[in-house]
Amino acid sequence: MHVLVTGGAGYIGSHTAVTLIERGHRVTIADNFDNSSPVVVDRIERITGTRPTIAAVDLLNKEALTNVFAADTPDAVIHFAGLKAVGESVAQPLRYYATNIGTTLNLVDVMREHNVHRLVFSSSATVYGDEQQPPYSEDGGHLNATNPYGQTKVMIERILADLAHAEPDWSIGILRYFNPVGAHESGLIGEDPHGIPNNLTPYILQVAVGRLNELGIFGNDYPTADGTGERDYIHVVDLAEGHVAALEKLATTTGAHAWNLGTGTPTSVLDVVAAFEKAIGKPIPYSIKPRRAGDLPQSWADTTRAEQELGWKATRDITAMARDGWRWQSENPDGYAGA
Ligand code: UFG
Repeated sequence: MHVLVTGGAGYIGSHTAVTLIERGHRVTIADNFDNSSPVVVDRIERITGTRPTIAAVDLLNKEALTNVFAADTPDAVIHFAGLKAVGESVAQPLRYYATNIGTTLNLVDVMREHNVHRLVFSSSATVYGDEQQPPYSEDGGHLNATNPYGQTKVMIERILADLAHAEPDWSIGILRYFNPVGAHESGLIGEDPHGIPNNLTPYILQVAVGRLNELGIFGNDYPTADGTGERDYIHVVDLAEGHVAALEKLATTTGAHAWNLGTGTPTSVLDVVAAFEKAIGKPIPYSIKPRRAGDLPQSWADTTRAEQELGWKATRDITAMARDGWRWQSENPDGYAGA
């Protein structure tokens, strides 16, 4: 299959591009490199021996996107491109709604004009909001989110479900990610946040290489085993494999389908720190800080549906996530900027 991967130079997109190429698919990456580096493309080539085609376009530019489809029409699209910082979305809601929803509307419109009806969309466990209880299952209840970023995911899920309902040609997979961490085992690609990281494991890794002094742990008084927040961390390569499984499943089904991509196992912040300290071989200095606004005590997936319908299951544990994350960061202490 020829697969267009929007946001394919980003963290999850680049790992998915590698898995797609390794499974024999042809990849075109569409990315505006707003929050990613063109160096990723060289790295994908080094890992796979194949250089993906690059379309340096902004999906808000519909004409440019149309040209990408006209030049080499894909069989399917995996749509990662979008803004994803929760705190920033609270400060800049209109930018988040305009970008995430505008790009998706442009994309499905151009797909439809070119008779392409197979789409995998990056959603998030954030759509389960703060009213449902984990483990979250796909049809567990009303979707909601506590911030504009999460609301864009809820709204886009709705748009895609309505589209698939109205136009039965479409096959749409909505993937709800839990907490992606780790890196490709080559150490050549990984997560490279600009500025101070928002997420736990990039923060730990930047402390380990000396870019940051100390980790702050946001609360140790949650109703959990050790008092720190619990999340369902999933190795980014397992996540990438989940995308390919979803894409292949869509070949045999129509409609819109949501699948959780997680491991089904919650891990506390302190247990994540311990796993990374073991991989890194030295302690990570930390102090306990107040709870972060909007954080849930616990979040983890019910993975039954993905296992049954996609024949996919995460296989890499927190030890592998820490080992591979550390290999990436230690070999690229300044991320792609050091390349
Ligand atoms: N944490 C810290 N210190 C930090 C960063 C995080 O203690 O410096 C804690 C958080 O309080 C939480 C856990 O580590 O308990 C994980 O936090 P992350 O920021 O890594 O991940 P979140 O679960 O908050 O967020 C992730 C994605 C979002 C998505 C959200 C809900 O990053 O995109 O899951 O699905 F919206």
